Amino acid sequence: MSDQLIYSGKAKDVFATDNESELLMVYKDQATAFNGERKEQIPGKGKLNCQISSYIFDYLIKNGITTHLVKNVSDHEQLVLKTELIPVEVVLRNKIAGSFARKFGLDEGKNLQKPIIEFYYKSDELDDPFINDNQIESLNIATEAELTYIKEQTLKINQLLIKLFSQDDLDLVDFKLEFGRVDGKIILIDEFSPDNCRLWDSQSHQSLDKDVFRKNQADLVETYTKVLNRLEGAK
Ligand code: TMP
Ligand code: ASP
Repeated sequence: MSDQLIYSGKAKDVFATDNESELLMVYKDQATAFNGERKEQIPGKGKLNCQISSYIFDYLIKNGITTHLVKNVSDHEQLVLKTELIPVEVVLRNKIAGSFARKFGLDEGKNLQKPIIEFYYKSDELDDPFINDNQIESLNIATEAELTYIKEQTLKINQLLIKLFSQDDLDLVDFKLEFGRVDGKIILIDEFSPDNCRLWDSQSHQSLDKDVFRKNQADLVETYTKVLNRLEGAK
């Protein structure tokens, strides 16, 4: 395999491969928060996120969601389809938490009447600003039809994941997705791990996600291991 680095992100590096249409995604042992302001090396984190994301993507694929995942090549590397990134972070919220609670001066924890979808423009320099549907269309980031499809897929993924996590006594509070285009089709890309969602224990409401790192509440590797163990049914 060729080892040309194409993109280096906060949590993953992406390399070219000998196959034009595939990339190698390598999960890093790096945790960041507050747009990279805080950065720490955490041995074992990359492996855990890769394993959790593989589990979730496999489940979504089995349930009809098209994703970029081709296969795992090691415990911290995945072969994925090369796509044209849509530079939008799609956030779905089931409960009040995080920036939504801060923005509107609300306590965390209440269920929202129905899931809320928000978009953020992916730009480290601009600190990922909020962007709405009209702005996305006007800036030619995605068409109205593409946004409708992205929202439908996001709601479908939410239903599937609520079901999956509830079997493991986990409440899916909110999460962030990314999408890309390949052969004119929009597919789910990036990862799904406790780095980009909030998971609360259904009974204790304890966080089992990156909030433990953001708020210095608990050990990240121990916390993510608990999530993987629950998913794999070894509670
Ligand atoms: P927020 O409440 O901070 O806006 O985050 C909403 C969800 O999006 C939460 O599950 C964490 C995830 N997220 C990311 O994956 N990347 C980010 O850069 C941010 C700010 C949030
Ligand atoms: N994803 C951002 C960062 O890594 C923000 C966050 O997750 O808190 O810095």
